[in-house]
Amino acid sequence: MRSADIRSAFLDFFQDRDHRVVPSSPLIPSDPTLLLANAGMNQFKPYFLGETAPEHSRAVSVQKCARTSDIENVGRTTRHATFFEMLGNFSFGDYFKAEAISWAWELFTRHYNLDPERLWVTVYLDDDEAARIWRSVGVPAARIQRLGMEDNYWSMGVPGPCGPSSELHYDRGPSFGREGGPAADGERYQELWNLVFMQNLRGEGTGKGGYPILGELPAKNIDTGLGLDRLAAILQDVDTVCETDLLLPTFRLLQEMAGREYPGRDGSDESTSFRIVAEHSRSVAFLIADGVLPARDGRGYVLRRLMRRAVRHARKLGIDEPVLPELTASVVGNLGTTWPELTRQAGLIRRVVSAEEEGFDRTLRQGSQLLDAAIARASGTISGRTAFELHDTYGFPIDLTVDAARSAGLTVDETEFAELLEDQRRRAQRAGRGRKGDAVARADAYRRITAEHGFTDFVGHSVTNAETDVLALLDSDGPLPSAVEGDEVELILTRTPFYAESGGQVGDTGVVRTSSATLQVLDTRLGLDGLHVHTVRVLDGEVRPGTAAEAVVDADRRAATARSHSATHVLHAMLRRHLGDHAAQRGSRVEPGRLRFDFAHFSSFETGPVQTLVNDYLLDDPDVRVWEASRAEAEAAGAYALFGEKYGESVRIVDIGDASRELCGGTHVGHGSQAGPVHIVGESSIGTGLRRIEALTGSDALRHYDHQQALLTELAGLLNTRPDQAPEKLRQRLETLAETQHHLETLRRAELDAHAERLASQAEPVPGGWLLASSVPSLTSGDLRTVATGVLTRRGPRGIVILGTTTEGKAALVAATNTGIQARDVLTTAAREVGGGAGGKGPTANAGGRRPDRLPQALTTAATEARAILATLP
Ligand code: SER
Repeated sequence: MRSADIRSAFLDFFQDRDHRVVPSSPLIPSDPTLLLANAGMNQFKPYFLGETAPEHSRAVSVQKCARTSDIENVGRTTRHATFFEMLGNFSFGDYFKAEAISWAWELFTRHYNLDPERLWVTVYLDDDEAARIWRSVGVPAARIQRLGMEDNYWSMGVPGPCGPSSELHYDRGPSFGREGGPAADGERYQELWNLVFMQNLRGEGTGKGGYPILGELPAKNIDTGLGLDRLAAILQDVDTVCETDLLLPTFRLLQEMAGREYPGRDGSDESTSFRIVAEHSRSVAFLIADGVLPARDGRGYVLRRLMRRAVRHARKLGIDEPVLPELTASVVGNLGTTWPELTRQAGLIRRVVSAEEEGFDRTLRQGSQLLDAAIARASGTISGRTAFELHDTYGFPIDLTVDAARSAGLTVDETEFAELLEDQRRRAQRAGRGRKGDAVARADAYRRITAEHGFTDFVGHSVTNAETDVLALLDSDGPLPSAVEGDEVELILTRTPFYAESGGQVGDTGVVRTSSATLQVLDTRLGLDGLHVHTVRVLDGEVRPGTAAEAVVDADRRAATARSHSATHVLHAMLRRHLGDHAAQRGSRVEPGRLRFDFAHFSSFETGPVQTLVNDYLLDDPDVRVWEASRAEAEAAGAYALFGEKYGESVRIVDIGDASRELCGGTHVGHGSQAGPVHIVGESSIGTGLRRIEALTGSDALRHYDHQQALLTELAGLLNTRPDQAPEKLRQRLETLAETQHHLETLRRAELDAHAERLASQAEPVPGGWLLASSVPSLTSGDLRTVATGVLTRRGPRGIVILGTTTEGKAALVAATNTGIQARDVLTTAAREVGGGAGGKGPTANAGGRRPDRLPQALTTAATEARAILATLP
């Protein structure tokens, strides 16, 4: 069965059972606790937690997932992958174990026609109910095993929903491992489908199962995940994902590039390298298509690590040409119909991988040099610290260090290396944990508020003033009974006109008044999706929950922010018009009077034409129209959506004229011309393939022009001319200045030549050559070197020149020679005499010190040294 048919059979099966098909969310999740989408359930987390009600209680999806916790196993086992498609069916408080289990069995045995005799089941230790249901659908008790938290309890790896699970495994036969069911051998009895009975909430903790269960979710849910790769390998009767139709073209291309065939599953390093390169190429293509770019940390580092591993293993296979551009292109060719984002971002993928592979090759060369030096220094062992530095600073892989050391007959202190790595990991984890812990405590408080009172009624799209009530006051320890003058606390209102920071737009500020207090709103953000949290300072009086209040947004600031937001949309549209469709938004910051816009593009460019396009477009005064639609309608209408936006909800669309249509929750001007002028103040690179534009809008742009104008007027005044004449006048002045400088230079050179000439005649013959040692008080220390070389040229071979001067209370000495010795040797002792040191390499050297009075002695010392050197020259 082809993978396309496996996907559609899955979707059809569950659609027939009243599931709504939901598209995959991007690999960059909107959930801040997650680095990358790692399961089909990620995008439904708010439904499981009861934070948001789903539109439909059953869903089915094919989700793109990335998991790198098992990266070391990829290629070594046949079943691990860093990217895979997960087929999943979901119930949000609707059906539970009985349906989930019997449907899984039906789909496997009757639609995918897997041999029931080869299917094994695991259930969580005490889950008798699941075991009973499996038996009732026909699984013999002998093929049902019970496993603990480690295997049969599932969570996202972070605090959130979790629950016991039950897995379906397929026996791939004795050539894959030993008998005894999944409990005995995971490689032979391959896990295919994980059915999670999502019913609990977990807290902080590490490792599988090493976390507390905090309580029950509001409802019992189903979350299942079936790995498309693994199922395809079985249905296509091949050993690994690389040989399925999902990756075969890429795998074949790799073998062509390596000039030899994949040796099969023979346990060799070569076989592993083949699989790693192909598997990682697919992950790399998908990650870049979803907006991940290589970086030193976070998800960008995951991508970088995958690229580097792929390149390294390709080099091991003897491929010295760039591999990633070709291999990722073949992934795009093979999977681009199913996943059109690959095709849309094909250019970006190629550019990113080419640049990264080139950079990594450079790193390898640089690392090799450092390693060679370390090997030359080492006796017996290379320290773990050196290996760690190579790894940490230069990205030079430890196994390459070990290999190279071994060929030089050395060992690497791998224990020390592992300790340093572990230290670093622990430090990173500690840093992460503090933040997360706090965030989780706060999120709990917010969740309790929304569970009791629902979400904030946001009225700020139509008004900036509203009558409301104080719902809660909080500080970092939780709810407060009141707040008094001077307190800085979090305020939650039943309804609010304050926009909460999101979609790049800053939160509103302003004032909230009750009959007994005045609160200054310093910022507004979303505590949870839909819950507005105001950071306030109590200016006077006392405030308590339950009081009526008037909320007043700083309307001027809001208007200036709206101008920037509309300008941002138009800038985005015009950048894509000017540079091409690839110049898509990657981030933005919309503030009163200014904006920052990050987008995909590869090189620096002239921003003038873009600025003109933006301003002309706005001056045409296009209508700004805001409307709501389903996500599907919005997409059909060509609305531009940023990565990470949630699916399946009704969305808000902002049109500005007919060139700009974006999904957006922000605040905007009513007509284009109200955005005022947009003035680009900077364009820069912020990472590979990523640029940033900063611009001023509205009255801030106008004030900027006024300031520029004032500068120009001042400049013209200094040049004694009119502003429009200023550039020409300045050009003339600069030309005159350059001529004068040139003239001065000529004079100066002639003067130095004269010095050289005079000094050359003073040089005296000594045994073995000639010598000049002289103090030249009229020269600066910078000139000494020029004059010394001039003397050498005039007097010819076998000479040493030593010149000294005093400037700014310091002594300076220069030695120059054409004898082939190190000039510094002449000055070493003399330098000490003037209280300093000597520097320089080869035929010239200099010395300096804080004792100008000792210059005469120093010159004598250097001359004695020089005589001795000359006398012993061969
Ligand atoms: N969330 C579970 C998993 O990823 C089932 O979908 O395995």
